[in-house]
Amino acid sequence: MKNLPNMKDARKRTSETSKEIFLSNNKSNKYKGNKYYIRTYGCQMNVHDSEEISARLENLGFIKVETIEEADIVILNTCAIRENAHDKLYGFLGRCKHEKEANNPNLIIGICGCMAQEESVVNELMKHHPYVDIVFGTHNMFELEDMLLNKMDEQDIRVYSKEGEVYENIEYKRDSNIKAWVNIQYGCDKFCTYCIVPYTRGKQRSRHSKEILKEVECLVKNGYKEVTLLGQNVNAYGKDIDDISFANLLEEVAKTGIPRVRFVTSHPWDFSDDMISTIAKYDNIMPYIHLPLQSGSSRILKLMGRRYTKEEYITLFNKIKNTIKNVAITTDIIVGFPGETEEDFNETLEVVNTCKYDGAFTFIYSPRENTPAAKMEDDTPLKVKEDRLHKLNELVNKYSKEANLKYDNKVVPVLLEGVSEKDENMLMGYTDTMKLVNVKADKKYIGEIVNVKITSVKSWSMDGEMVNE
Ligand code: SAH
Ligand code: SF4
Ligand code: F3S
Repeated sequence: MKNLPNMKDARKRTSETSKEIFLSNNKSNKYKGNKYYIRTYGCQMNVHDSEEISARLENLGFIKVETIEEADIVILNTCAIRENAHDKLYGFLGRCKHEKEANNPNLIIGICGCMAQEESVVNELMKHHPYVDIVFGTHNMFELEDMLLNKMDEQDIRVYSKEGEVYENIEYKRDSNIKAWVNIQYGCDKFCTYCIVPYTRGKQRSRHSKEILKEVECLVKNGYKEVTLLGQNVNAYGKDIDDISFANLLEEVAKTGIPRVRFVTSHPWDFSDDMISTIAKYDNIMPYIHLPLQSGSSRILKLMGRRYTKEEYITLFNKIKNTIKNVAITTDIIVGFPGETEEDFNETLEVVNTCKYDGAFTFIYSPRENTPAAKMEDDTPLKVKEDRLHKLNELVNKYSKEANLKYDNKVVPVLLEGVSEKDENMLMGYTDTMKLVNVKADKKYIGEIVNVKITSVKSWSMDGEMVNE
């Protein structure tokens, strides 16, 4: 079967409200005892989609394994946000191809996620990677069972470029029994000029608040300690379906009694005063906000289509800082957007100096197929962009370390999630402000929010010990 993506259709937006579809789940023993390996790139949304894919595979009898060599099926859930995603995909495919040819001719290779929504990628897979068995997109993960139950000899490609529906009744095989992702909104309509997400994920569409609350209540009942509400632009939640606002949704989620509520990502443009006061009002809404800046130059922000100026961003930033006690704020910044001058870049540094972020993800601009920015003139040499990134990172790291140092010797609440990666005698968890802490504590406290005294602060994490057991 071949249903191929089309970038022109992916861009379309009609005024119709999205359809809500309740899925029924497909169970079968066809693959009982077979093994699956899944690798995920990209944002939290992809991580959460992989939890859905895992549930679908397990419903067919597959068991999860951690290496390609043990697997009967490998699934690669891809991200398209920057060009280097391509190298990752083809590097990984090389390994799978070798495994299939050398050791396991029956290995099923599947590609999904945001790159599968790209026309050029799918064409490349058809032309040069015939050993890839199945390709499905971000709008139809529910078709995976059908693709496997009716497995074809030829390459089965099912990708739809459309605005998308809202699915309910999705089963997840969650990676954690302590923290859970909860989709509140799919897609994006912001069309920032550099970004591919509105094309790969479709129209911005909200789930009904009653379905979201039902899911959170169920998580509370099952002992979950934290939920993170997911969307590309969560503060636009509800506007497309005439449901409650994001501030009200946050409040309702907080009232379920879940110990910790987080959300990601908020766009500075829709960030309302109501949101700020709701976050300040509820102790179980975490004082941590990821507020992407992208650039500190109003001229570049305009070219990016971000809909705010440097001054508006700083005003919002200060309002958040002044209203929410102990809030931590992190950001995303792109350097080397087409036409960015040294002056524009210095304005970005200036905003970083003003905001003194707790942390920042920084990127060199990467042109993406079919986006408006990819057609803009870009005469800044890569070397200059790399120097800017380096300079920016030094400043970002300085402030991040400064922010962390404020925690030295303080006692802070940490949700213990499991054994630390760097030391098996320690546990790890996050503060309410999303700082990673390695903690000396008994394993029986995994899953609990405990008080931790910070004993040393490093650039990317802190060490501490549990107090008042
Ligand atoms: N919805 C979120 C961002 C999701 S993508 C928001 O609007 O903030 C995560 C980050 O990747 C973006 O914030 C941006 O900094 C970066 N990014 C997106 N497209 C990019 C591109 N073409 N080149 C480099 N970085 C990009
Ligand atoms: Fe991309 Fe902008 Fe949408 Fe974020 S808001 S996903 S950067 S288009
Ligand atoms: Fe990547 Fe798609 Fe997320 S492009 S950042 S996985 S929405």
